[in-house]
Amino acid sequence: MYNSPANTLFIGSKLIYLPECHSTNTTALQLLQQESLPEGTVIITDRQLAGRGQRGNSWEAVSGQNLTFSMVLRPRFLPIQDQFLLNISISLAISDFLTDLQLSGAAIKWPNDLYAGSKKLGGILIESSLKNAQLEWSVIGIGINVNQKEFSVPTATSLALELGCDHSLQQLLDQLLKALEVRYLQLMKQKKTQELRREYLERMYWLGEWHLFETEGKQFTGKIVGIDPRGKLAVLHQQEEQLHYYGIQQIRYLA
Ligand code: BTN
Repeated sequence: MYNSPANTLFIGSKLIYLPECHSTNTTALQLLQQESLPEGTVIITDRQLAGRGQRGNSWEAVSGQNLTFSMVLRPRFLPIQDQFLLNISISLAISDFLTDLQLSGAAIKWPNDLYAGSKKLGGILIESSLKNAQLEWSVIGIGINVNQKEFSVPTATSLALELGCDHSLQQLLDQLLKALEVRYLQLMKQKKTQELRREYLERMYWLGEWHLFETEGKQFTGKIVGIDPRGKLAVLHQQEEQLHYYGIQQIRYLA
């Protein structure tokens, strides 16, 4: 069971709690077809039966131990070509939230995974609808591993493992929704595009380091040097000494 946070203006004012569902993103998309939801509506569950991740992956989380929710936004003020700014602002909000929890070594793995050291702590799945060449609404799905201590993959971690203690899910939800609202209002009102991009790069995983990547089945050594205005990842290839730009389906981080 969760309650609306008392510390926000509109994010989470309408909160729909489902003990169990297939995926909070899917539920949000279905509800948006049936009714108009106020901006900031949050759909949260204890247990997802078919949680979805990026690139068609699934999102696994042990029941009642983690944060799994979706938030409905209407970022009509954002030109379509700038929609990556929404990814940036949501990623920064979660990164702010992790910093407030005194988590050291948190980074944003492009486009919007949250890492603690070299392990994944959380992920974001943004699904948007366009109308008349404008963003009509966006469903922001967020999964953060909180009190779970055992994972089926060695590359996952949780706040409990990183910080050495359990947390109240309601308290964390309140803090996280506040952080999301602060960053969303900043995007809506101040539109400090360059500053947001700069902050995002400052917190970016593997930025400026040589690593092994894979594209089209081939491995290469490269260095992430930034993102382009649309959010594509700019990677310098070591061997060719040339810059290449990648979308999310086009590149994999290896080692
Ligand atoms: C990823 O890292 O691939 C994104 C994971 C997003 C998971 C969250 S959990 C709540 C919301 N509902 C879903 O089905 N997915 C997102």
